Amino acid sequence: MTASLIPEPYRIKSVEPIRLLERGERCRRLAAAGYNTFLLRSDDVYIDLLTDSGTNAMTDRQWAALMMGDEAYAGSRSFERFAGAVSEVYGYPFVVPTHQGRGAENLLSKALITPGDTVPGNMYFTTTRVHQELAGARFEDVIVDEAHDPVSTAPFKGNVDLAKLAALVERVGAAKVPYVTVGCPVNLAGGQPVSLENLRAVAGFCRPRKIMVVIDGARAVENAFFISEREAACRGWSVRRILREMCASADTVCVSAKKDLYVNIGGFLATRDAALYEKAAELCVVYEGLHTYGGLAGRDLEAMAVGAVEMVQDEWIAHRVAQVRYLAARLEEAGIPFVRPVGGHGVFLDANAFLPHLGPEDLPAQALAAWIYEDCGVRGMERGVVSAGRDEEGRNRAVSLELVRLTLPRRVYTQTHLDFVADGVAKTWARRASLPGLRFAHEPKLLRFFQARFEPAPVPAGI
Ligand code: F0G
Repeated sequence: MTASLIPEPYRIKSVEPIRLLERGERCRRLAAAGYNTFLLRSDDVYIDLLTDSGTNAMTDRQWAALMMGDEAYAGSRSFERFAGAVSEVYGYPFVVPTHQGRGAENLLSKALITPGDTVPGNMYFTTTRVHQELAGARFEDVIVDEAHDPVSTAPFKGNVDLAKLAALVERVGAAKVPYVTVGCPVNLAGGQPVSLENLRAVAGFCRPRKIMVVIDGARAVENAFFISEREAACRGWSVRRILREMCASADTVCVSAKKDLYVNIGGFLATRDAALYEKAAELCVVYEGLHTYGGLAGRDLEAMAVGAVEMVQDEWIAHRVAQVRYLAARLEEAGIPFVRPVGGHGVFLDANAFLPHLGPEDLPAQALAAWIYEDCGVRGMERGVVSAGRDEEGRNRAVSLELVRLTLPRRVYTQTHLDFVADGVAKTWARRASLPGLRFAHEPKLLRFFQARFEPAPVPAGI
């Protein structure tokens, strides 16, 4: 990997000041936040790589569209523009807006799940699984084995393992499997993509068994980009065409628009299935708002309508992936371990390899995210045992991947910022042997990683 970057396909029209606190102050603020980067104040952070969700910089066209928002309660023009753009880009006739991705997951889970069902998926995602469980289903992982190996360089580590899926359906019966969720790409595996060939094979298996195929399309444009690079049959295709083909092989897509669509809030469910649409639209009224605004303002719908069309312009996604790869190459120069191949939304540091003296009870990724913040004011996010939560028996779920995600917001940071991040993480790498783990001081029941508090664990003997 070499550290080179393509020039930005944009210039900067508005800026937001940021500042770096001095180290002693950072240590105090981290302790006050219970060593959880989610509980830091934004003002305490210099470069915020917590997430790429809702942290995007919009284009001038999106900002201009905000003024066109039709705030009518029912039947707003903005809804028509939004639904039209989504239908055109994703290829589904029915669209239900939601306040964000998990709103769509809630509608989907409630509409399709009967208690006692099983929902297979290519690795869990936190909010997706919790909605499935709250609706009475059990999640089962059917991702290929390579996904669990941070050093495997297989091109499509997000693929569904058809043998695992078939064995599961055989065991529980197709009638107990309402749908399969295919995350394209797989966030918690490091942004690993799914091939079009695999998606089509999943659909080929599911269709005769009347199992719906649902794409989790939070970052489907990134997935389409990797298909254009790695799948011989699609080489030279535009991301726009590939995204349509991905959706053509599935039935429904749930989207957090806070990612691909370059907005700060929003989401939707889009489907070809009229019966699902009717149920989802009805539930939308209960949980989100009328089905023509779904918990959003008309102006938010306008910004999404523009974002949906802009996101499939190839130059945006090419630059985004190049930025992520640049950061990875700089980290590689310092010898810092991260998940391969590098995905499209961030670099996922391998906390087990970074802090090999810590065991799972030390919450290595949670600790690493905290110590990186101390060293450089950069905020990342734990994606490991804390995110995985507890199983039905109350035990911590075992995880193969113990990661700190350095996520790049879209069009927000420059090359100099990325250099600062790489140099900052290198400081933590230099003092890695003396770093302690963390213990829970407060543990919420649902999605504990968001609000948990921690304290430093006793320093291991010999350090
Ligand atoms: N699916 C995936 C793959 C996601 O990454 C997310 C959110 C969601 C669904 C839920 O969408 O946040 O709009 O309700 N991921 C954010 C992240 C939180 O930081 O990765 P949401």
